[in-house]
Amino acid sequence: MNHRTQVGIVGAGPAGLMLSHLLHLAGIESVVLEARSRRYVEERVRAGLLEQGTVNLLKETGVGERLTRLGLTHHGLELRFGGRGHRIDLSGLTGGSTVTIYAQHEVVKDLIAARLGAGGQIVFEADDVSVHDFDGPTPKIRYRKDGDASELSCDFIAGCDGFHGVCRPAIPSGVLTMYDRIYPFAWLGILAEARPSSDELIYAYHERGFALHSMRSPTITRLYLQCAPDENLGQWPDERIWDELELRLAADKGWKLNRGAVIQKGITEMRSFVVEPMQTGTLFLAGDAAHIVPPTGAKGLNLAIADVRVLARALTDYYRSSNRELLTKYSGICLRRVWKVQRFSWWMTSMLHRFTGENAFDQRRQLAELDYVTTSRAAAQTLAENYVGLPIE
Ligand code: FAD
Ligand code: PHB
Repeated sequence: MNHRTQVGIVGAGPAGLMLSHLLHLAGIESVVLEARSRRYVEERVRAGLLEQGTVNLLKETGVGERLTRLGLTHHGLELRFGGRGHRIDLSGLTGGSTVTIYAQHEVVKDLIAARLGAGGQIVFEADDVSVHDFDGPTPKIRYRKDGDASELSCDFIAGCDGFHGVCRPAIPSGVLTMYDRIYPFAWLGILAEARPSSDELIYAYHERGFALHSMRSPTITRLYLQCAPDENLGQWPDERIWDELELRLAADKGWKLNRGAVIQKGITEMRSFVVEPMQTGTLFLAGDAAHIVPPTGAKGLNLAIADVRVLARALTDYYRSSNRELLTKYSGICLRRVWKVQRFSWWMTSMLHRFTGENAFDQRRQLAELDYVTTSRAAAQTLAENYVGLPIE
């Protein structure tokens, strides 16, 4: 089958779906091609923290009904070290901004429902997706569906297919420059049927390693532990995970970690990665396809949404007035923000984790950094304005 659309989008993650939704609102047609099934993408457990700007966008574009009902609004967070908690007043330090706990797969569900409800086309379980002719004005996406070969012709391709997708590797060598850093640790994460042990997130620095207390709902807790990058999950029975979390999150004044049945367990690798530029010809990369951040700053999903906001605006401008200026500037506009978010995610990661090969000097420096951030209004404000989300240019 051969078909045509204005923008061909590879990947039905937050980036691809939000782009398709924004384009639809601007009267621009798109088709989304996704390798996995609808059920798989709607159940994939990943990020959970939305910046103020992401929340505003979801609400303003009509996909915020469940988010408004089920999202948990947070006005602050806690940094815990030396057995004591220190609150960062996010709202007070940013003129009222907040962050919201709402799982990434719920955002994905809401966007899929909105696209399909509006007659949008998402091809799930598209096999052997490949992108062609993006050095010219009629790029094509080839794929197979139920064994049958199809070709989608379009004006532009949006590569929203994540870090392991096909769009970035399809760009000829010499076009992109890659910048990356791999951290010598990973996160072991669990979802548990347990009441959150605190109303806000707790980022804990401990000599045994970093720990994070987060949540998904008033009855589901999300917890993470710093672990080795090649950690074997088989060596982490639930009891061991809970015991380790209890040690690392311990605090005086009788704080208690609520335990419950572990319903999901996984290891997340930690990496910082950026490609420059994020575009070539008529192919534009967005989200994890173009950059990865370590999860310590809770930025991956938010950065993906910020990219497609810029891309949707540039495409809208082009279709309304044949003006290519914003399209030409897409990469430059995104990368300025991407690098600031990279810096913040790297800084949070460096401040809170134990590094192999570090010495007593490094630990004292980390503790001094934490002490500074929790006692200087200027330093706390710097954390807060980055955490709730930098403005989009
Ligand atoms: P993705 O969500 O990866 O979406 C890409 C889509 O493209 C996927 O649906 C994929 O199936 C599809 N695809 C891939 N290849 C092809 C192909 N060849 N053809 C068609 N479709 C294809 N961020 C945080 O902020 N906090 C966290 O706690 C956190 N935890 C994470 C845990 C894990 C295990 C992972 C992998 C990421 C995590 N992230 C986290 C990062 C965050 O989830 C991502 O930044 C976010 O998903 C980026 O959205 P995206 O749309 O760019 O990419
Ligand atoms: C999460 O809830 O999954 C989460 C929250 C904050 C982070 C990372 C992950 O920094």
